[in-house]
Amino acid sequence: MVEAYDRLLRQGLLISQPGGAVRASSALHSTEPAAAGDAALPEPAVFALDLHPAGTPIGTLDRRAWGGALREVLRTATEAELASLDRAGLLSLREALVEQLSHSRGVVAVPEQVVVTSGVSDALRGLAPLLAQRGGRVAVEDPGFGLHRATLIGSGLDLVPVHADAGGIDVAGLEAHDDLAAVLVTPAHQMPLGVPLTPARRAALVDWSRRTGAWILEDDYDGELRYDRQGVRSLHGVAPDRVIYLGTTSKVLSPAIRVGWAVVPPELVEEVLAWRLPLGGAPSNLVQAGLAAFLRSGGFDRGVARLRRRCASHRAAIAAALTDALPDLEHVGVEAGLQIALRVPDIEPWRLIMAGLERGVQLFATDDGPDALLLIGYGAIEPAAAPRVAAVVAEIVAAGRASTRPH
Ligand SMILES: Cc1ncc(COP(=O)(O)O)c(C=O)c1O
Repeated sequence: MVEAYDRLLRQGLLISQPGGAVRASSALHSTEPAAAGDAALPEPAVFALDLHPAGTPIGTLDRRAWGGALREVLRTATEAELASLDRAGLLSLREALVEQLSHSRGVVAVPEQVVVTSGVSDALRGLAPLLAQRGGRVAVEDPGFGLHRATLIGSGLDLVPVHADAGGIDVAGLEAHDDLAAVLVTPAHQMPLGVPLTPARRAALVDWSRRTGAWILEDDYDGELRYDRQGVRSLHGVAPDRVIYLGTTSKVLSPAIRVGWAVVPPELVEEVLAWRLPLGGAPSNLVQAGLAAFLRSGGFDRGVARLRRRCASHRAAIAAALTDALPDLEHVGVEAGLQIALRVPDIEPWRLIMAGLERGVQLFATDDGPDALLLIGYGAIEPAAAPRVAAVVAEIVAAGRASTRPH
């Protein structure tokens, strides 16, 4: 236990505070830049089991269909198209995306509003100068996705964490701020809590944005992945004048493709493109054209449908196994996405993270009041393995709980 604890402190995953208290830190949580030079190089981590919801490879890309789309492009695309230096990305892809996003996510836009990116993180980097010119303060969900926080901090922006709970970001917490350039939210599926933003808060968020002029950055990273209930439509669909919509292939196809998109209100298009470099930011034209062909052929929709089926069966298996192994723990955020949160009452999250690391298991936990929410990313857990994984999780919870009791 002590060894793992020391390692977490060395790696900056835990921070010890005056009086002996400890809190979780890490890139996952940080709202402050790490001071250069005060951290040892992190040890490369190899885990026996990775349940971290952000990192789980899902492996559902239909490689044959994707290969077919790329071959078609190599056969048919003109040299002029492949040599395009359009800062917004290939027109053929922007046209295909407008159609796709309109039917799958309720996004209403014209191709001139779409900027092709290398993913949500690239979009955030690309938007940073525009946000800096508006004062540079950006609200983020707390808890939220650490890599995006790091991207914003690395782009020179100041972050304002705003509490998120079972209803998504607490918009009342934004009301105190009228000087923000933007707020970054995950309205369809809060990362990491797994819940949608409530209708009342969606409306309040748009009102706040209209009143203060702050832009809403909608990270719709896995909006297609809902299982039991009707899909939550994008916020962009209800407030296209206030929302910069950000999407990605990373969840529904593969993080290896590195293509995403930003849908920008018309008044911002010129400014966004002015900051965008014609080379070096966007994914290769070959890949862009391949994605356009993949969308046109229906390969994307078929991939999403396959992923939904696969994840629904993974989810059913892991939920049942967790109920068997830990019958007293509530499941949170199970309707969507690729993770289940287990509510573990009255425990600090770092105790669970540490108990996991001691067993070679990477997982993520965050606090929700006095409780911890322990996140189980199940994208890569085959149903047959679910009981074994649940047994490991039960062991981690038991160890975390035991560590809270005096010896
Ligand atoms: C909340 C969230 N947004 C976006 C992404 C994808 O980012 P990118 O498109 O840069 O791969 C992820 C991936 O894990 C995520 O968890």
